[in-house]
This record gives sequence, C-alpha cells and structure tokens, in this order.
Amino acid sequence: MGALDNLYCAARAYLASRPDCAAYMPTVTGASVPQPGAMSFAQSDCSDVVRHMDRVAKTACPATQPLVDQLLSARDAVAWFQVYKPDDLVGKGKIDRTAVSLLAGPGAAFEPEHGRMGFYFLRDGVEYAPHAHAPREIYAILSGTARYWNEVSGWSAYGAGDVIYTLEHRWHAMTTCNEPVLILWAWIGEDLNLVPVLWEEDQGSIPDGA
Ligand SMILES: [Fe+2]
Repeated sequence: MGALDNLYCAARAYLASRPDCAAYMPTVTGASVPQPGAMSFAQSDCSDVVRHMDRVAKTACPATQPLVDQLLSARDAVAWFQVYKPDDLVGKGKIDRTAVSLLAGPGAAFEPEHGRMGFYFLRDGVEYAPHAHAPREIYAILSGTARYWNEVSGWSAYGAGDVIYTLEHRWHAMTTCNEPVLILWAWIGEDLNLVPVLWEEDQGSIPDGA
C-alpha cells in the first residue's frame, strides 16, 4: 500500500476506536463512487504553513501519537489547500497560517458518497471566524489545544484526544493561542461541495470571550 492508503486506514482506525464517532464511520468507509461535479479545491501553495507542522509531534497524547507521527511522515504525499479566498472575512491568520487536506470524500483519493474526512492544521495565533455549513462535523483533536465556540455552548478549550461535535447549520468558530493544533475532521450529510457560510457576512465580528 502507498502512503495515502496507510494514512487513510490509520485515520479510519482512529475514528473507529472512538465510540462517539461511530455515526461517522459508514461515511468515511464507503465504496469508491466518483461523483460528477465533485468539489475540486484550487491547489493552494500551503508549503509555508506545512513546514511548521513538526511542532505537533510534541503535543499529541498517547492515543493520537501514532496517527500524528504517521501524518508527519506522509505529509508530502498529502495535497494541502486553503478553502477560502484571500479577501474572505474569515479571521486573523486563517488564510496564511492554516492548511486543510481532503483524504476521503467526493473528489478525494477515497470517495465515500456522503462524507468527507481529512486533516486540518492550524498554526499558533489563528482566529477562525464563525461559520456554518449543512453537513454535521467532528473535529478530533490530535495534537495541541484549541478554543472552540458554538452558538449554543459558547467558548471551551479542547486538547489532544478530545472530539468536538457540530450539528448541521450551527454557527461555530475556533482559535489557537501559542501552539499549533492538528485535527482529524469529518463531515457527514448533504451539500458537501459548498464552502461554509461566514458569520461576518451577516452577523458581525467574532463573539466575545475568545
Ligand atoms: Fe466547520
């Protein structure tokens, strides 16, 4: 198997090891079904972001360390990109200090029909402004500590080994402080090809308490 196959298997195995992620498993283990019109993100140059990724090796936990190490070894085989455009009102550092990969889902190397899965790397000092989308989402924190907000629960801190759940169409946001954060993320549901709606387009600035 190649590096991506091994990484995909390891990512699925990590989700499978978490009973609270069981609902996501069928969506990221489906048969390969290419979809016409699948999202194809512009391949941004995220090399300046990805070269800072080594720091996440030090802030994993025992349960996440093997997957973190495997990603660090395979990072050059992974296509990293930026979801938003430079003039989007998406928050401090979101454009030039974060990188996303798409490991499974329509348009990815592995193509389940109703879900997406990938890695999300945020350097220190990022403010990801509130946004919302139709699919439900999990952020499985693999390394580092992030502050996460949603419109119901407000702000909380989450670290390696934690899993954050976001319901469909729910406003949510995230910040990093003085260390980078690595996340295994997954979407399930409909409208997988739509870029998230941004809060600042109709709600204003980031909520208090960040
Ligand atoms: Fe989200």
